Amino acid sequence: MKKCFYLTTAIDYVNGQPHLGHAYEKVVSDVIARFRRSLGQEVFFLTGLDEHGQKVQLAALAEGKTPQDYCDLLAGDWQRFAGELDLSHQDFVRTSQLRHRAVVQAILTKLQNEGHFYRAEYRGFYSTRQETFLTEKDRLPDGTFDAIYGDVTELVEDNYYFNLRDHQKWLIEYIENNPDFIAPNYRRNEVLGFLKNNELENLCITRPISRLGWGIPLPFNPGYVTYVWFDALVNYISVPASYGDPSVMAALPGLKLDEPTTNQSLSLWPADLHIIGKDILKFHAVYWPIMLKAIGLPLPKQILVHGWWQKDGEKISKSTGNIIDPVAVIKEWGLDAFRYYVTRELGIGPDGNWTDAGFASRYTSELANGIGNLLNRSLVMLRSYRQKIIPARHDELASETERTVTKVRQQLLEPDLQGALLTISGLINHANKYIDQTAPFKLAKDPTQSQRLDEVLYNLMEVCRILGVLLWPFLPSTADKIFKQLGMVNAPDDFNLATWGGISQGHVTNDPAPLFPRRDTVPTKT
Ligand code: MSP
Repeated sequence: MKKCFYLTTAIDYVNGQPHLGHAYEKVVSDVIARFRRSLGQEVFFLTGLDEHGQKVQLAALAEGKTPQDYCDLLAGDWQRFAGELDLSHQDFVRTSQLRHRAVVQAILTKLQNEGHFYRAEYRGFYSTRQETFLTEKDRLPDGTFDAIYGDVTELVEDNYYFNLRDHQKWLIEYIENNPDFIAPNYRRNEVLGFLKNNELENLCITRPISRLGWGIPLPFNPGYVTYVWFDALVNYISVPASYGDPSVMAALPGLKLDEPTTNQSLSLWPADLHIIGKDILKFHAVYWPIMLKAIGLPLPKQILVHGWWQKDGEKISKSTGNIIDPVAVIKEWGLDAFRYYVTRELGIGPDGNWTDAGFASRYTSELANGIGNLLNRSLVMLRSYRQKIIPARHDELASETERTVTKVRQQLLEPDLQGALLTISGLINHANKYIDQTAPFKLAKDPTQSQRLDEVLYNLMEVCRILGVLLWPFLPSTADKIFKQLGMVNAPDDFNLATWGGISQGHVTNDPAPLFPRRDTVPTKT
């Protein structure tokens, strides 16, 4: 069984509102998934929802629903959201699914039997909002706790703990010896700095059922449910288990899946890419590797950490109304314009800033006046001067295009999505200038220049075709439109099609239609 290229997003809290940050992470992941598929790789792209925890329990109660009913309702919204973004995911995991619960419980049983857990009394403070324990160290100078923790209560509680301390040394060595494990590099340094300067606190992995019912019951003590993060991280292997992944099945011989979701067998683990935001780095780069090591599984190949979006230089926040509703933007400007802006504006790493004016400006100058104008002018000229028929092959723009294709391929492998879009823009601008310089509209008036006009038109049409292939992972429906207008019968979803000379003499194109109609307005307030 050949191993798939397996990539994941973080799983979103079911009770949150889908926003720009979630959309960004998913679009980035989708571009990578589509690109890998266009290289001919078998890809498995997983996204989904994190459903357990006290906040969900309380919200369900407030609405008079069971937590499961409440989650089922919200899960519908999130699945629709994935559809609005045209994600090409293979599966959508929900931590309330039985297939997930079975794997979490098998892991808990295994680690308990192998002595990774111990029981102890906890005395201290607890934040319900963050679902986390706090210590004296978390107090502000005035003795209170930061507002992000909400109401902090004092409690005494018996719980199970996962012994992390013994894992600190190998984890530091592993991160040092595997420079690509955490990217970008400054995030890797952050984790190393944390691990080298702090002794790891053991992780409390349970909550008493009296305080929290909505969670995965501890298989060896029905008085407890599993801590949400221990539960949520496991999604990355519970889905592979549901496809009979050989390495996960071998590590969990006690696992019984009552609810086979599929009879398709896949080899997925280890993941090639976990794509996450910077706020959840510690969970993925410290707790998760330790959990995997204890389970006896290899670590994911890379944790790719993106930054956070702001809007107009301020934190995105529902309470202050400083939000962007991706669905409203998509409705007004089209999905591809949204996908383009988020991947072009923000590289994977630093924080980014959304401005409505910036969005409108990229739409006009890079989409409408860039690829839109290039395709439209080229097709209109071919229709006017050559009855839509492609002339004989000519290679004037071949080497520039080939350089672009090689660079985009390498940038997408890295993956540097923003860099790849910049490289693609370079070719679009080059081709638009080529029209200005060769002036086909003048050539068309001079019968002695007929061959030169053929050459120019061939080069333009072929550049447009290859741009369709390069843009496909980012802008799938625009790329499809480009191919349709060029009269291609195949889809632009195969990177091998980005080879010069693919459009042949005598081929007949279709009528042009604007890819990105010009707009005079900035987006309405969302
Ligand atoms: N449920 C946890 C993740 C568990 S993964 C095993 C969680 N959920 S979340 O809904 O709060 O966040 C989901 C993802 O969205 C995270 O990777 C987070 O970093 C990302 N973002 C949330 N707000 C964001 C921005 N403003 N900007 C960019 N990404 C942000 O954390």
